[in-house]
Amino acid sequence: MSILSELKQRFAAALAPLTDKPDDGLDMVRQSQDPRFGDYQANFAMSLGKQLGRPPREVATEVLGQLELGDLCESAEVAGPGFINLRLHDAWITSQLQAAVTDERLGVAEVERPRTYVIDYSAPNVAKPMHVGHIRSTVIGDALGRMLRFLGHRVISDNHIGDWGTQFGMILYGFHHFRDDEAYRGAPVVELARLYRLVRQLIDYHQGKVKLPKLQERLAQQTANLEDQRKAAGPSPDKATKKALRRAEAEVGRLGDEIDALAAKLKAVDDDPALARLAAEHADIDRAVLVETAKLHAGDEGNLRLWKEFLPCCLDEIQRLYDRLGVTFDHALGESFYNEWLPGVVEKLLARGIAQESNGAIGVFLPGQDVPMLIRKQDGAFLYATTDLATVEYRMKHWKPDAILYVVDHRQSMHFEHLFATVRLLGYRDVELEHISFGTVLGNDNRPFKTRSGDTVGLEGLLDEAISRAGQIVETNDDAKPNGPELSADQRQRIAERVGIAALKYADLSQNRTSDYVFSYDKMLAMNGNTATYMQYAYARVRSIFARGGVDVDALRRSGAKVVLNTPAERALGLAIVRFGEAIDLALLDYRPNQLTSYLFELAGCYSTFFEQCPVLKAETGALRQSRLLLCDLTARVIRKGLDLLGIDVVEKM
Ligand code: ARG
Repeated sequence: MSILSELKQRFAAALAPLTDKPDDGLDMVRQSQDPRFGDYQANFAMSLGKQLGRPPREVATEVLGQLELGDLCESAEVAGPGFINLRLHDAWITSQLQAAVTDERLGVAEVERPRTYVIDYSAPNVAKPMHVGHIRSTVIGDALGRMLRFLGHRVISDNHIGDWGTQFGMILYGFHHFRDDEAYRGAPVVELARLYRLVRQLIDYHQGKVKLPKLQERLAQQTANLEDQRKAAGPSPDKATKKALRRAEAEVGRLGDEIDALAAKLKAVDDDPALARLAAEHADIDRAVLVETAKLHAGDEGNLRLWKEFLPCCLDEIQRLYDRLGVTFDHALGESFYNEWLPGVVEKLLARGIAQESNGAIGVFLPGQDVPMLIRKQDGAFLYATTDLATVEYRMKHWKPDAILYVVDHRQSMHFEHLFATVRLLGYRDVELEHISFGTVLGNDNRPFKTRSGDTVGLEGLLDEAISRAGQIVETNDDAKPNGPELSADQRQRIAERVGIAALKYADLSQNRTSDYVFSYDKMLAMNGNTATYMQYAYARVRSIFARGGVDVDALRRSGAKVVLNTPAERALGLAIVRFGEAIDLALLDYRPNQLTSYLFELAGCYSTFFEQCPVLKAETGALRQSRLLLCDLTARVIRKGLDLLGIDVVEKM
């Protein structure tokens, strides 16, 4: 049980007679931002008072009168216009802490009614090299799975690998026309990646040739518009006009940049005689790649044989990354797995009148949507959506989930909206369907993170770089220790790996997932601030107390020593520890791991204050020393477990 859920339960009972929507009120029961107003606050009386046409203070007082809080709270008061301020009993906090000392779960209970969750995450399109964008889905999905499992839910993780799409058409085309046999024998994945990039470059070249003049035309038009707008605005435009001007200027700037980038891409091909020749010889590559893909899907023997040869290499490649990241899946049923069921899905939707034909293509026309969700193209090819529908049916049939979570970037939100609506039409009403959407990883220039040459950044290189930078930090830190370095080269390397990977994951998880964020090695590895490095360091520092004091932690836990909360710093730390379960609940409420990172950061802050103000090894009495050591132990355990739920390892020394 978490404190918050306990409080909400009690408030729910008291609110029931007053409103038929008690949940709205319960959302306003929260941790207090300012300890002067108690530990928790309930602020629903203002809106509820308005609804009922009664003074909020009166409503608050009435609710409080109905509440049985004596065992939990030392005081519960109505303040100001109608706030309810709650302060927990020290004795209650202490009893929770005392129970956590010998509880492996740190006082966090499993849920009473476990649900079955399918989590669909990572899902890279293999055969393309994995890039920085893939880290978000991978680490967010993994963290959600860990938290849900910890609470006792049944979690089925499934990597919906893109192993059947156009990227294979590209590789097949590249393999037929451009392969270097020797390179392929030596390092197949490297050669396949080269073929992918080459074909991609040639396709982009031809498409770019068509697109460039259109963009230029648009730029000319926008520039002219801007000039007109400027003239119309006159010398001293008002606020709104200024804003409109700025927006128009930004658009012109953005278009200009896009044109420059595209022109540079075209020039790279034009200036390279070998590439330019290939481009000329393969003018039709765009369409040809689709033909290769279609042949594969239709079961063409040659293409299917090659696909079967390529796929294991591609999968090995991504597996290496998962191993380094410490991420696993229960299943990896890729898109190809569903191929045999696609015609059946289309037939079923047609038969039930959910899908219609239009100009030879077949789509689901959803009310309020101008574009249909296509499930079969004119040429008979099935689409991403068709596969996703088959996937839902498979999951529902075999795993009977209560919820399916799709951790996929925000650009696919329309796809999921349509998909979910169609799934409902198919009659799956009760399953919770969530698109756990996330923003883009940006570079310093606030654009999608790219290498200097304009390529997306490979994930492998990213990990290497993070680890090498972590290594420098570990080295500097160790060299600066008062009694000289403590770590062997081997230890340093192992720590660097943990610190580097942790930094990458935490930097991602600590962002509000729906926002874009700027990728920065310096920031993610900073020793101060809300970073994994800081949290790992905090953990190592707490642990070092036990070594310094020669304390046997197991004996301490079994000793029956009492936790006492004498000072505000001890109380604040104790309360933070007890709030662990609440932090996990909040993180799962709308699937935001950053709720957990914020909590851990706050906990570390409470610990710092405690450590500055309360001597531990040199406490005034033996009993106080024991109590404080227990608080240290609990802090370390919550940090370790909290990081573990995020997929992050701690280090004992740094
Ligand atoms: N492979 C897809 C992509 O990279 C993501 C798949 C997400 N999962 C799903 N069931 N659609 O865009």
